Amino acid sequence: MSPFHIIRTLPEDATDAALRADVRRGLTATPKWLPPKWFYDAHGSELFERITELPEYYPTRAEREILADRAAEIAAVTGARTLVELGSGSSEKTRYLLDALTDLDTYVPVDVSESALTQAGQALIAERPALTVHALIADFTARLTLPDTPGPRLVAFLGGTIGNLLPAERAAFLASVRALLAPGDSLLLGTDLVKDERVLVAAYDDAAGVTAAFDKNVLAVVNRELGADFDEDAFDHVALWDARNEWIEMRLRSRTAQTVKVPALDLAVDFAAGEELRTEVSAKFRQEGVRAELAAAGLETTDWWTDRAGRFALSASTAR
Ligand code: AVJ
Repeated sequence: MSPFHIIRTLPEDATDAALRADVRRGLTATPKWLPPKWFYDAHGSELFERITELPEYYPTRAEREILADRAAEIAAVTGARTLVELGSGSSEKTRYLLDALTDLDTYVPVDVSESALTQAGQALIAERPALTVHALIADFTARLTLPDTPGPRLVAFLGGTIGNLLPAERAAFLASVRALLAPGDSLLLGTDLVKDERVLVAAYDDAAGVTAAFDKNVLAVVNRELGADFDEDAFDHVALWDARNEWIEMRLRSRTAQTVKVPALDLAVDFAAGEELRTEVSAKFRQEGVRAELAAAGLETTDWWTDRAGRFALSASTAR
């Protein structure tokens, strides 16, 4: 018997209400912005999977290399009996951890996507009949309550997704993770590292145009969910390196002066020719910065692993 529990902590209509609030705030702000979490409908998730296979997009491969090389070490230092994975998505890279954690009893994937959780969870249970899976439908940037499962716990936040949060959001997020950790529990955090600007920009502006399609997909989401009339062809994808903040920004630049209607919000949004809408920030890190942000949240970095080319890092930390 392999128990699979799915727990909904998000009300069915929470996503809709959050999207409306974000679109109203972002499209009436100066400069305009939309939060990156709205990229990931079924089509957007598919486009993201394609991004991870692009020659220019190195983070997924770099992180996979670290996990492949270090999973046994990670398992040894954490001794985890429960693995909590925030933003689990397809759980593809998690296999390395699941296979290495010899004392693992329970896997808690946390994601806003019920379909991703069900698919990944069911597949896993077929392979690992002894594992208990407590899938949690939740927004990991909101306050989390974890099911009562055996410790020590390892909370994994992979992919470099922490880079999509702004500095103040990161501080709040890390503090909320810290609050989940009991003595002996750990956080495993994936962070993309600062590197040559050309390498970074190419990773977010690939030659095949997959990232451009991913970026524009947020417009399709707003069209479908809120009845808007965004024309994807009326915007250009822009990726730039902000050297002061050390982050990549993705933007959509309006080709012409145009007005977009968002009927569900009773909103008409004017774009000037060349006006840009920020759709994502993807921060890149240095070891000292990661250590400092973790320390500020009450977390002590115990281990730091990078891929052989030094492009991406995984860190382990514990509550101080
Ligand atoms: C999965 C959120 C880490 O910021 O690199 C990929 C998303 N955006 N290409 C990232 C993304 C554009 C990705 N994260």
